[in-house]
Amino acid sequence: MAAGIDDIAIYIPRLYIDAADFAKARGLDPEKLQKGLGVSQMAIVDTNQDPACLAANACLQIMQKNKLSPEDIGRLYVSTESSFDESKAMNSYVIGMLEQVYGQGAFEHCGGVETKFACVSGSYALYDNTNWIRAGEAEGKHALVVVSDIAKYDMGSSGEMTQGAGAVVMLLNDEPRLLTFDPKVTATSIKDEYDFYRPFGKETPIVHGQYSNLLYMIQVRKALEIYKKKALASGLMKLEPGETILDHMDYLNMHLPYSNMGKKALAYLVRHEWRQLPRWKKIIHDMGIPEPVPKDPRGTIESVLGDEEFMAKDHEFTKLFTKTREFQEVYESKLASSLIASKMIGNLYTASLYLGFRSCLEFEYQKGIDLNGKRVGFGSYGSGSSAMVFSGTIQPEYEEIVKNMNLEAELAPRRKLTLQEYETLHENKLSPEEPMVHTKREFILVDVNTTTESRGERRYIFNE
Ligand code: HMG
Repeated sequence: MAAGIDDIAIYIPRLYIDAADFAKARGLDPEKLQKGLGVSQMAIVDTNQDPACLAANACLQIMQKNKLSPEDIGRLYVSTESSFDESKAMNSYVIGMLEQVYGQGAFEHCGGVETKFACVSGSYALYDNTNWIRAGEAEGKHALVVVSDIAKYDMGSSGEMTQGAGAVVMLLNDEPRLLTFDPKVTATSIKDEYDFYRPFGKETPIVHGQYSNLLYMIQVRKALEIYKKKALASGLMKLEPGETILDHMDYLNMHLPYSNMGKKALAYLVRHEWRQLPRWKKIIHDMGIPEPVPKDPRGTIESVLGDEEFMAKDHEFTKLFTKTREFQEVYESKLASSLIASKMIGNLYTASLYLGFRSCLEFEYQKGIDLNGKRVGFGSYGSGSSAMVFSGTIQPEYEEIVKNMNLEAELAPRRKLTLQEYETLHENKLSPEEPMVHTKREFILVDVNTTTESRGERRYIFNE
């Protein structure tokens, strides 16, 4: 049975900081953010928003747009790494909010859990729900998978340049109008790592930035190797001499902690795939420098990062490689459109990959390209760490959904924060009753209980 994404909706908070203002305040060159990382604006949550609100707002939007009633929904999963309770799952809060609109008990029949594995957990949730549909368990119902996060780092840390917030919801069913997942090719890799993690009770993560960049690429490459074996064994793809698996993907959507990470990862994967092919000899010849090799090619990530001579040469090589006509062609045709939303919104952790997918659809469609039958490859990464590579095919009915996508209009009601306002929000100096903007027809957080017997209980309302 076919299964996949029928529709997709996003909810982005109404506040943002501008990269240039941020850079000025931190004494950084604005070019480092805009060109070096590919960050132009970062979405920031208001005092009366938490990741459950963001998720519920996205869910309401997709249900209203598709005129779905709660009876049509069989499962509601929330994937997040911004959880605020160790036991109560975030989807229960979301259902509580939705029932304020649809009536108490309206979702009683529905199942679901909150999933966690840093940024990759949404991909595991999509996979599990796709298999629920493929197994024939859905009985005609749809699944909602919501990925919702607030990417917040310590003030003054290098991670602070890569913040953001928002939710993406995907409606899954057995007759998807947008994308059908390719069966029997989903590939994973996993390893116990400390590149980025957030111990209990700490609001912001502990990050080893450069280590995390390299680990992301290594883990995705490992998953791609497994994907390749599965795609060839299942007959999904057949490689002619001189071809790579990437030639059979029309688009590549990568996890985007900042938009340039997508480009970095693409260059890494392409180098890895092309190295064995005749085309590589020509590229190296044209570039005029050999591909550098670390002193200890079988060494650890630490030893590679510590090999300063190699790192400098490799940096120079990558820069030159990304300027070649061959790489530029792949970058422009397969990746560039997926990066546009990320530049304007920032890191959404679990939701970043799927915001990228939405961005890819909208901006490729705007180019006048017929997307029917195009294969989209996904490179998902979660710190700690695990990667997942999978793919899907765009369906003939895609236009029905994609023609109405308009990121600019969705972001239009945003307000730019001054750096002082941003810092006040960052340091949690205001309560939910003191929001920066007043929104209408959205779920908002009203109160978090502080009494001994009900500590942590959250109250939300739908702001009519
Ligand atoms: P940094 O180390 O300060 O930055 O922080 P940098 O020195 O690497 O510079 C960044 C880029 O800007 C470089 O480009 C510089 O050359 C360039 P590259 O060489 O890599 O192409 N640059 C400039 N360009 C133009 N003009 C200038 C200039 N100066 C420098 N003047 C870092 C960067 C990403 C490490 C930091 O922001 C950080 O720690 N962020 C958080 C961690 C992160 O995002 N890691 C990404 C991989 S792990 C992941 O994706 C998982 C995650 O989403 C969490 C999860 O799974 O839950 C984070």
